[in-house]
Amino acid sequence: MCDKLSYGEIYAPIYEKYTTVQGKVAEVDETVAFLERYCSRGSALELGIGDGRVAVPLSERGVKVEGIDNSCSMLQILAKRTDLIKAWQGDIGHFKSEQRYNMVYCVYSTFTLLFTREAQIACLRSAAEALDHEGVLVLELGVPSLDPLVGGQKTTTARLVDDENTILNVTVHDPLNQNLVSTLLWFSGTSVRRLPQRVRYVYHQELDTMAECAGLELAERWGDWARGAFTERSERHISVYRRCSP
Ligand SMILES: C[S@@+](CC[C@H](N)C(=O)[O-])C[C@H]1O[C@@H](n2cnc3c(N)ncnc32)[C@H](O)[C@@H]1O
Repeated sequence: MCDKLSYGEIYAPIYEKYTTVQGKVAEVDETVAFLERYCSRGSALELGIGDGRVAVPLSERGVKVEGIDNSCSMLQILAKRTDLIKAWQGDIGHFKSEQRYNMVYCVYSTFTLLFTREAQIACLRSAAEALDHEGVLVLELGVPSLDPLVGGQKTTTARLVDDENTILNVTVHDPLNQNLVSTLLWFSGTSVRRLPQRVRYVYHQELDTMAECAGLELAERWGDWARGAFTERSERHISVYRRCSP
C-alpha cells in the first residue's frame, strides 16, 4: 500500500515535467559521470530512486543499479522505463540490505524528505551497513537558505516564470524541528496544482556529525557535479563518505 500523501505519490504524475523545468534532466549526464567514478562496472543502490532519472542512465553505463522508493507510482514509472534495474518499495529511513554495494547514493536533496533527525541518522546507519569495504555514500543536498524566513515564518518565492508556467513556493518554517513545510503552486495554462512537502534541512557540518555517528567519515565535498569547489556561495553540496577506518 502507498501513502497517497507521500512526496512520490503527489509528484509522480508531473515528475518528468517538473524535473525538466527545474533543470534536473539537463544536468543528468554530469551527475552520472560523477557517480560512475565510484562504481564503474560495479554495483550501486539509490535511495529514493524515483522514476530513474539518474539510475536509468547510470545502469546503461554498465553499473548494476538497484533502488528503494516508498512510492508505488514512481516505481511503476521506473518499471516502464527499464528492466535493467531491481527496485523495491521501502522506507529509506529504515532499510536493511543483504547485499553490499560499491556505492550507495541519494541525490536531489531526497535525504531531507526524512523530516526527523532520528530518521536521517537511521538512514545513514543503514546506508553505511550496505557499503562494501571500500564503498562510498554520495549525498547531494541543497544548502539551507533561511534568509527570507528570518523574522517571519513565511515566505513566497518564485521558482520559475516563463511563457507557460509560474511556479511559486510558499513555506512555513518550524525552527524547533528544522522543518520547512511548503506548498508548491504550479500555474500552467488555466490549471493550478498544489504540491505539498515537508523537509528537515541540515547544514553540512551537522550532516558530517550525523554521518560520524553512523560510522562514516567525509572523504570529499564538492559544490556541483563538475567537481567545482564548495564555497560560501554554493547552493548545494555533493558529499562523499567512506566507512571510518577501524
Ligand atoms: C526528489 S525525488 C528524487 C527522485 C530521483 N532520485 C531523482 O533524483 O530524480 C525523491 C524520491 O524519494 C522518494 N522518497 C521520499 N521519501 C522516501 C522514503 N522515506 N522512503 C523511500 N523513498 C522516499 C520519493 O517517492 C521520490 O521518488
